[in-house]
Order: sequence, then structure tokens, then C-alpha cells
Amino acid sequence: MKEIGVGIIGLGIVGSGVYETLMQHSEEIARRTGVKLAVRKVADLDESRSRTLGVPDGVFTKNAKDIINNSSVDIVVELIGGYSPAGEYIVDSLNNHKHVVTANKALLAKQGAELAELASKNNVDLYFEASVAGGIPIIKALREGLAGNNINYIYGIVNGTCNYILTRMTYEKMGFERALKEAQKKGFAEANPTLDIEGDDSAHKLMILASIAFNTRIDLSDIHVEGITKLTHEDVEYADDLGYVIKLLAIAKRTGNEIEVRVHPTLVPKSSLLAYVRDEFNALLVDGDIVGTTMYYGKGAGKLAAASAIVSDIIDVGKNIQFGSPLRVKPFAHANNCKIKNIEEIRSLYYIRFTVLDTPGVLGHISSVLGKHGISIASVIQKAQHHGKHVPVVMMTHEALERDIRNALTEIDTLNSIKEKSALIRIA
Ligand code: HSE
Repeated sequence: MKEIGVGIIGLGIVGSGVYETLMQHSEEIARRTGVKLAVRKVADLDESRSRTLGVPDGVFTKNAKDIINNSSVDIVVELIGGYSPAGEYIVDSLNNHKHVVTANKALLAKQGAELAELASKNNVDLYFEASVAGGIPIIKALREGLAGNNINYIYGIVNGTCNYILTRMTYEKMGFERALKEAQKKGFAEANPTLDIEGDDSAHKLMILASIAFNTRIDLSDIHVEGITKLTHEDVEYADDLGYVIKLLAIAKRTGNEIEVRVHPTLVPKSSLLAYVRDEFNALLVDGDIVGTTMYYGKGAGKLAAASAIVSDIIDVGKNIQFGSPLRVKPFAHANNCKIKNIEEIRSLYYIRFTVLDTPGVLGHISSVLGKHGISIASVIQKAQHHGKHVPVVMMTHEALERDIRNALTEIDTLNSIKEKSALIRIA
């Protein structure tokens, strides 16, 4: 059996998990799949990580080029993340006719189409299962398992940090700041959590998923992104009273030749399967025209969840090498040219929380502005205790055009009886 040479760049948490998994499982992998994997080189700037893992002498290097230019390495596994030098390492590897496995979602979201083209030009594979939803094989599901379908939509929870924070806000009645601190203490949020809590990490993942699902080029700038930082505990409680939980959803939908791609907090009915996805877990719903709706659930981050996805990619690429079929599965095909909808063109149900002066006529005034913009109210809640002061009034609308909602809110928020900018959350 031909050995496939593997080189790992980056021995951080995920890289260590990949190394350990390959050490522990490669014999069974060879028996089960017929692919014999041999780790030929690992690179990291910090040698102590390699010592902790017991990497043999001669396998460790501080210089990634020892992997990229090594004739015994067939597959380069890039696990340092970030744009640079990871991007250069991947480009050099592809140009050296090495196959590449990476978990680098930020880089793929920015340069995925170009890297895929370069891989194709060099007749090598570029695999990236671990870039989205950690251990859940969602990319393989889209590219292979559901290949016979036209995908209608894919949406779900793809950021464990936000889901952990929202779970604490929902079930332990915490405000956002306290829940974030708790997530940081437990290791579910970075010291600088901006990328996660502002929704950008979810947007990176959505760009990858939607590009594959709809076979069309989607740029990060096409995605409407709102994070969870402005959510208040009040909104979480109102949602609860109304029979919903709030989740940060990444949503991609196709209607004809038009696509909507958006990341934002969303009211999800408590009866929905996504409402049961708690803590740091991820889940995705994919609807195909042939299969109907399918669901995928599991750990979206962490050492071994990511290692599971990366090792699975290494095996796939190893098989492609063995059977002489690189590019058997294209990274991105981009054969369609769908139009991306502006957020103002989407239609949704809406939750709106106004902060109003509790005096006669205020509700009538708000309703008449909404009516003027063609927005129909489905329900209203005003709790009775604050007569004469500013009070929250929550409305749920029937389906409406986002442009109409925005125009109505701009008008309503200038009324004297409105104390602060109204909160708007879309409903799934
Ligand atoms: N911070 C990310 C998350 C890590 O919480 O989902 C995995 O991409």
C-alpha cells in the first residue's frame, strides 16, 4: 500500500489534535479505507509543543518551507489560521503541486475562489471541512451527500461562542456582558471575542456554505451581518413570553435565481429543532428539492471536533491521490451566476420593541405609521406596570418587506413619544 506523506503546519490546539488522531488511528484508517497516512513533517515556531506530543527527531521543523518544499510530503495541512503567512503557505503549496487541507475560514471567505482556481490549475485538491461547524461534516454533505439536489436553503447555528452566550442569557437570565464573561471564563469565548459576537465568524462560514450550496460566487460583502452585542435580556424575556428563543442564525436561501445571505439574531419558535441546540453546539438545516429537509448537529469547535474533520479531509485527499483522481470533488464550482438580494429586499416576520411614553394615542400613532407602510400587526404586548412613564411595547408583524419595516421605524423613531431607537429582530 502506497504511503501518503502528510505535513502539518501549526501544532496549536487543533494541530496537536490532528497529530494525536493520526498517531492513534492511522492503522485502523489504513485497514478501513485503504489509505496509509504517514506524518513526514510538522512545523511550529514553538518546539515545546512538538516535545509534548513526542514528535520523533527529524520530523519537527521550525520552518514551514521544510514542508512546502519537501518531496516526501503529498498533503500540506495548514493549521496556523489568519491571512498571512497562511495564505502564502497555501499558495506556495498548491504551486508546488501539493494537496492542501485547511481549517482557515477567514482566509477562504476572503480568497476561497482564487485558491480553488489555483488548486484546479495545479491539478491538486483543496479541502476545508473543519472551516465550518467543526466536527459536523456539512461540507461533505453539501458537496457529495446532497449532490443530486438543488438546495433551496441552508440555515443554522454556526458559532459556538454566540450560542453559548445566548443559552446563558435565555436559561440563566443573564445580561449579555455577564454571559460573555462567563463564556470567556469557561473557554468558549476568546479574550478578544469581536469576530464571534459581531457575527463575522458566522459570515465567513456562511460564505463558504452558500457558495457551495448554490454553486455561485458569494463575497463576504454580499452578506448582511448583525451580531448579538445589542441584544438585551428584556428581548430574550419577551421572546420567551411569545414562545420563542433567540439564536444567532446564518441564513442562505435561494428563490429562482436570487439568493439572500444574512447573519443576525433571530426569534426561533421553541418547537423548532434549532431551539434545542444549546451551549457551544452547532446545527444546520439544509433543504434540497429532492431530499426535503435534513438536519446536522454536533460540536462546532474544539480540538477533537476539528481534528475529526481535518483527518477525514486527509483521508479523502489520500484516496484521491491513490486513485489518481484529484479534483474529484471541486472546492467551489461557481457555475451559476445568481443575483444577491439586498437586505431591504427580503421578506420576514418581525419582532419590534418600542420604548414609548405611556400616554393616550401613542399605540394608535405607531399602528397608523406601520399601516401606512403596508405592515400588518400580528400581536402586541404592553405590560401594565409603568403608567405615565416610558414603557416597552412589543409588536410582532405578519410577513413584511424589510424596506417597508425600516422606513416605518425611521418615521416612528422620530416621534416625541418614542424614547430610544426601536429594537428590531427577525423571526424565523
Ligand atoms: N469561535 C468559533 C465558534 C470557533 O465559536 O464557533 C469555531 O469556528
